[in-house]
Amino acid sequence: MSHSLESREAGTTEPNPEHTQNSPEFYDYHDVSWEEAREANLRNWEERVPLHESGYGVEEFANPGHLSQVVRDDLAALRPFVPGGSLDGLEVCHLQCHIGTDTVSLARAGAARVVGVDFSPSALESARRLAQSCKVNASWVQSDVLDARAAVQGQFDLVYTSIGAICWLNDLGLWAKQIAALLRPGGLFYIRDGHPMLLTVDENAPEPLLRYRYFGDGTAQAWDDDTTYVGDGKVASIRTYEWPHSISEILNALIAAGLKILKFDEGRTLPWQFSPLMEFDKEVGSFVWPEQLRNIVPCTFTVIATLG
Ligand SMILES: C[S@@+](CC[C@H](N)C(=O)[O-])C[C@H]1O[C@@H](n2cnc3c(N)ncnc32)[C@H](O)[C@@H]1O
Repeated sequence: MSHSLESREAGTTEPNPEHTQNSPEFYDYHDVSWEEAREANLRNWEERVPLHESGYGVEEFANPGHLSQVVRDDLAALRPFVPGGSLDGLEVCHLQCHIGTDTVSLARAGAARVVGVDFSPSALESARRLAQSCKVNASWVQSDVLDARAAVQGQFDLVYTSIGAICWLNDLGLWAKQIAALLRPGGLFYIRDGHPMLLTVDENAPEPLLRYRYFGDGTAQAWDDDTTYVGDGKVASIRTYEWPHSISEILNALIAAGLKILKFDEGRTLPWQFSPLMEFDKEVGSFVWPEQLRNIVPCTFTVIATLG
């Protein structure tokens, strides 16, 4: 975001050996194994954790009523689909939970059991600290999301994932199978993530311009970038790999895993500043395109689905 919430620059197809860490570089159709790509991504995510601990506003969670803006928005979308319009009493599995700000928010919204899953030990350590300081009961499982079913115990009423999740995965068929296997019959799956159309847009162009792939073919897109999407801190492990996924690929993966789509939606607001053209709207608590672009470029997609 672009796929990974980062700013990116000129696209090339071949790595540039002259590249320095001061300018993000993009290489398309990259031939890399999942294992190698995952290792690089893990190194990068591990190093982002301390930077995000100071950039994610974790101190706001000292207020016992505080929920992340992402979860506040997601609860509004989920309300018509959960009994009594709340998470009260539900068992929730949060995939790619990162440093736990959304996971703690889900627990605060009433969930009876919350399990956060991520492949980054540092992220989970940070999430554990946050939950302890908030006196929130949550458990944390270190696992690749593509192995989540084997790593997590029990079944769930809600499997939740959002914002910056699927671009890191090469195989949505396997991802959707984990989700279906984690749900109990009648359980709900919820995802809100960067819209695949948004992720085709050149984030640094003076006006929206299509630049990146919309359709995936299994090959990765590689970036070398020493920055992250909050704060000014730098990482040493600059290489990351992402995979584009079209809307049809996402929906068909869920349908093939046995999920029934209850709602598909597309949003005009974003929790991160994708492009310098976007501005923060205080009323909605998110970033938006300038008025004249709002009906041109979608920001997010949301899927609510049920098992069975
Ligand atoms: C952008 S963050 C996600 C989300 C959440 N919206 C947030 O901002 O707190 C992406 C998360 O995915 C995790 N991740 C990336 N690839 C993964 C994988 N293959 N298995 C499990 N976790 C993964 C990273 O460690 C990171 O915590």
